[in-house]
Amino acid sequence: MLIAIADVLSTGEAQALRERLLAADWIDGNATSGAGSALAKRNRQLPVDAPATIEGQRIVQRALSTNGSFLSAAVPHTVFPPLFNRYGVEERFGAHVDNAIRIDRASGVRIRTDLAATLFLTDPADYDGGELTVEGAFGSQSYKLPHGHMLLYPASSLHRVEPVTRGERLSCFFWVQSMIASAEERSMLYDLDQSIQALSAARGGDDDEVLRLTGVYHNLIRRFAIV
Ligand code: NI
Repeated sequence: MLIAIADVLSTGEAQALRERLLAADWIDGNATSGAGSALAKRNRQLPVDAPATIEGQRIVQRALSTNGSFLSAAVPHTVFPPLFNRYGVEERFGAHVDNAIRIDRASGVRIRTDLAATLFLTDPADYDGGELTVEGAFGSQSYKLPHGHMLLYPASSLHRVEPVTRGERLSCFFWVQSMIASAEERSMLYDLDQSIQALSAARGGDDDEVLRLTGVYHNLIRRFAIV
């Protein structure tokens, strides 16, 4: 399941966050890579303990905690503290699969990476290249979303960031452990929830069938969730 979520941050919020982050000191992106991906990766990253990182994490985590589409699609158990990277001209991240387990050294939190997310923070008009390309069962697809929008995709997929050929791409990225470990179950629950919300809007939340389907949704969560 791969979902683009609009307006996780408003355009103004995305711009303000980007400017704050650009003013900080950046390091080589391979500081957080496994040995395998270090070869394929050329970018820069904000240190995990930089004040700008902590500020940015608060802004992104607050936005995620109230975003209905994200909560419905990810059914998050733990959101790994968001990080920030930037790709200038000729920088890229070659094809790779994300590590299955991530450890946050600061907190000791360890998660299974079910989903990966990229929250775009640069106006697409300001750079060329830099698309996020994700391989799926039906071929590969490239994404370059407006600033403030986010792509949620399987961390298990082969994916890459295309070389930037003009300007610079600055983004936020993180992983999510879902309460629903199975991607197939998560995808069905998401479809069910989307339909319930559409039906609820059309018929009202107190409609008998809406109530019954809402019950089915929660009972399926009870059956599948690991909390
Ligand atoms: Ni990755």
